[in-house]
Amino acid sequence: MDEVVSKRFGFDSDDSVDFTADGADSEWLVRSGSATEDAFQNILRPARFADYIGQERVRENLGIAISASTRRDEALDHILLYGPPGLGKTTLAAIIANERGVGFKATSGPVLEKPGDLAAVLSGLQPFDVLFIDEIHRLNRVVEEVLYPAMEDFHIDIIVGQGPAARSVKLNLPPFTLVGATTRTGLLTAPLRDRFGIVERMNFYTPDELTEVVVRSARLLDIRIEPTGAREIARRSRGTPRIANRLLKRARDFAEERADGVLSHEVAAAALSLLEIDALGLSRMDRELISVLIRKFQGGPVGLDTLGAAIHEDKVTIEDVYEPYLMELGFLVRTPRGRQATVLAWEHLGIAGPAPSASPGFADVGE
Ligand code: ADE
Repeated sequence: MDEVVSKRFGFDSDDSVDFTADGADSEWLVRSGSATEDAFQNILRPARFADYIGQERVRENLGIAISASTRRDEALDHILLYGPPGLGKTTLAAIIANERGVGFKATSGPVLEKPGDLAAVLSGLQPFDVLFIDEIHRLNRVVEEVLYPAMEDFHIDIIVGQGPAARSVKLNLPPFTLVGATTRTGLLTAPLRDRFGIVERMNFYTPDELTEVVVRSARLLDIRIEPTGAREIARRSRGTPRIANRLLKRARDFAEERADGVLSHEVAAAALSLLEIDALGLSRMDRELISVLIRKFQGGPVGLDTLGAAIHEDKVTIEDVYEPYLMELGFLVRTPRGRQATVLAWEHLGIAGPAPSASPGFADVGE
């Protein structure tokens, strides 16, 4: 143990100890505050469920759990949120803290390099606080093992000293709620996954929901937009609010520089075409992926490594960023023998489709 916390635990003091190792300061490990500071200054992030659009079922399940834990005056169970990037997992975690009326601290798996990093973060929690760990699948195993007793019994075991003098000290923590976010539940170890009492999958937003998000954001940013303009941006945002908000800002620039400042349907469509976002919201890179799959590999199946090398893209980015929406559109399937483009993808690129036998039936689709 080379780095520990320099804090006195003010609760359950039986076995509490003072840690003054190297005066480690946990500030850099977390972003904290009351979540009402509008989760890190982004005015577009809703702060309460009432302002949050979409993810109906997730909101309802979380709302019930929050009310019940508040009524019982207990910490809310640990929550795992998973799904593609940009769907609002961080926002939801901050809302959970707000709705529960507790503090919010956010960190991420790769930032917590050593057990001491996690100990420092945990030691700064107040009773019932929400600790958000983004990309929790990227926690290293040694750190992860510190998390198990913290989640289960609200304590951690820290080794103090070195060599023969080393001893294990138990530190009690206040009851807290861990909200973990991941794009890949499959990469979580079973012991970690099993310690979450609530597991919620976030889904892509419908065009109607995204239109609402765009209209709300335009109002907050003072952007003049027509309903058909909002709809067009929503339609081309791959079911993802983060993308919708980004495209809205780019389309505003276009409207101000090349039009009269109003985001009509025509102006939005022209702005998005200039950004190479097509009618279904696919970017140049999405199209490149299916185009290479079809033109170089006759539609596949082709292994992820080969595909990544062919389009000069990292495997993880392909899996996390590009594939989920291509699969949602039914353009790509993961088969046991690799990635395969579907007839819909051939059609979208305007290429004559494969012979029927080359096209995967959906019945034989595997992960
Ligand atoms: N901005 C980004 N995501 C949002 C959501 N789900 N609801 C409202 N506004 C948002």
